[in-house]
Amino acid sequence: MAIYIPEEKLSEIRNTANITDIISERVVLKKAGKDYVGLCPFHSEKTPSFTVSSVKQIFHCFGCGAGGDVFSFLMKHEGIGFSEAVQSLARRYGIDLPERNMSASQKAAVSLRQQMFDLNRQVMAFFTDQLSGRSSGQKAMAYLEKRGFRQEIITQFGLGFAPDGWDNLVRFYKKLNVSHSLAENTGLIVPRKDSGFYDRFRNRVMFPIFDMTNQIIGFGGRVLDDSKPKYLNSPETPIYHKSRSLYGAHTAKNKSRETGNVYIVEGYFDLLALYQHGVTNTVATLGTSLTVEHVNALRRGFAQKAFLVFDSDEAGLKAARRSISLFMNASMDAAVIVLPKGYDPDSFIFEFGREAFEKVSEKAIGMVEFLIESSIKTNGLSMEGKVRVISDLQQPLLEINDNVARSIYIKYLAERLSVNENAIIEKIKSGEKRFNQTTRQNNRLKDNDGQPSLSESEPLIESEMIKVEKQIVSMMLKSPEILPEIKERRVLDYFSDKRLIEIAKIVLEHPIYGDEETPGLMNHLESADLKNMFASLVIEDECRDLNNCEQLLSQFINGIERRQNSLLSQIKSAQESNDEELLFELLRKKQEQSVNR
Ligand code: CTP
Ligand code: MN
Repeated sequence: MAIYIPEEKLSEIRNTANITDIISERVVLKKAGKDYVGLCPFHSEKTPSFTVSSVKQIFHCFGCGAGGDVFSFLMKHEGIGFSEAVQSLARRYGIDLPERNMSASQKAAVSLRQQMFDLNRQVMAFFTDQLSGRSSGQKAMAYLEKRGFRQEIITQFGLGFAPDGWDNLVRFYKKLNVSHSLAENTGLIVPRKDSGFYDRFRNRVMFPIFDMTNQIIGFGGRVLDDSKPKYLNSPETPIYHKSRSLYGAHTAKNKSRETGNVYIVEGYFDLLALYQHGVTNTVATLGTSLTVEHVNALRRGFAQKAFLVFDSDEAGLKAARRSISLFMNASMDAAVIVLPKGYDPDSFIFEFGREAFEKVSEKAIGMVEFLIESSIKTNGLSMEGKVRVISDLQQPLLEINDNVARSIYIKYLAERLSVNENAIIEKIKSGEKRFNQTTRQNNRLKDNDGQPSLSESEPLIESEMIKVEKQIVSMMLKSPEILPEIKERRVLDYFSDKRLIEIAKIVLEHPIYGDEETPGLMNHLESADLKNMFASLVIEDECRDLNNCEQLLSQFINGIERRQNSLLSQIKSAQESNDEELLFELLRKKQEQSVNR
């Protein structure tokens, strides 16, 4: 895949590109001495250990060990190859790469992603031309004007119009000589049953969706009347993932970083309306609820605090309940703004203006407080009401991993309800048992607690265990008929190797029924590390029949249980003989085992 890039071009790019610029387009960096620091985009952390040196033009993370130069950063961050990283930097800094050095096949290999970005850019121009054109675009323009949008906003956000008809974009692609596979990959045209393609977006106002670095990753489109579906978006493509993408990421970035705050709204027009009124630090989720990827990207690249804006208590409640742990785990403050009944951000700010919006924002309350107050509103403060409020809050409080934060909220709840704090803690704890039983953290040690079996056995050494775990996952890949039993016997609960657990979980979700399905499954694996491991499992070609498989499982589980029981009985006798040092050591081992599970 590598294309030939002359050494002098490489050094020209290396000398021109500034690693701090490139990284700060993607991660919030703060100056610290002569370096810059930020939250590492390659692992999850709460305090910055990701360091960028302008002087050395390198980055390094003290947390996860990732590091390298500007090329390796782009490769790792964007998931692209070396030549693609080089080309993207050349383009960014206006450095010409000699095309003539590329053979036809090399040209064809130039990243699909970049071709998609380029094509999307041309498609945007096609749509904007249609919008400003005399004929059919007029009614779309009239629609936007009727909704109150000014020309400068329409231009800045690249709004356009997909004309009525089945093949406007299809013909545009033909004119550009776009290859079939590229055309299909962008998802803007759809293959017909027999042959040919038709336009996905017809007679709609079009919104290009930009990423943080201003590339167009997809489109959304709205009808001009009440027909259905009201909105359509690009399907998932190699560059558009709705669970990761946020509308307005490119326009919200600067002001968010400046103020430390970002507003999260639901729709395209909500965002545009706020923007037009000067509230520019806003992003929109697009027809999907907030995901862990959204929250992490916002925390690392935008701001410390999020304001979620909702058009009703119910919508706010639903979202708050669903996303509270995402914010907690990302160490991002989150507050909820509920607009008066019947208004969404778009209609609210057009009717009442920016100051009114800011007034409502000032009344935003933290997510947990919001859940508490909403529940009090619904259930009241009678005795029964209080019981229900505490029940309501049980789950959200359980999901808060941070003990300090949790105890602060419990205290607040206790005071608000005039109930003893300990009673609430008791209630939460009672939920904790159930919570643990229903999550993966469930560990068999707890079930055996108190009644250790006395059977002794030679402890399996770790590497042996992993070897068996590998055999099991490899078997899951080749004999999908064993998967129900894997689930039933909760085999993964006994696994120690995190990578194998992750791969096995993916296999459970996407069983492979033929070799040709293997590469598809590979796509679900994030890291190079996992991919390596996966490949090694796939390559092993040991054959097993179902009987064999079951035997392997039983051996594995029995072995572990023996080992755990032996540990428990050792703990018991250490307790009885008051051998504190040994006890401490054994408990540490036990904890290690449970952490892995
Ligand atoms: N959405 C979507 N697909 C749908 C409906 C909604 O992707 N079928 C997304 C769109 O991004 C939309 C957002 O969810 O902007 C909010 O939807 P909704 O509240 O129904 O619409 P509004 O944004 O209020 O749209 P409008 O003001 O244009 O009626
Ligand atoms: Mn609306």
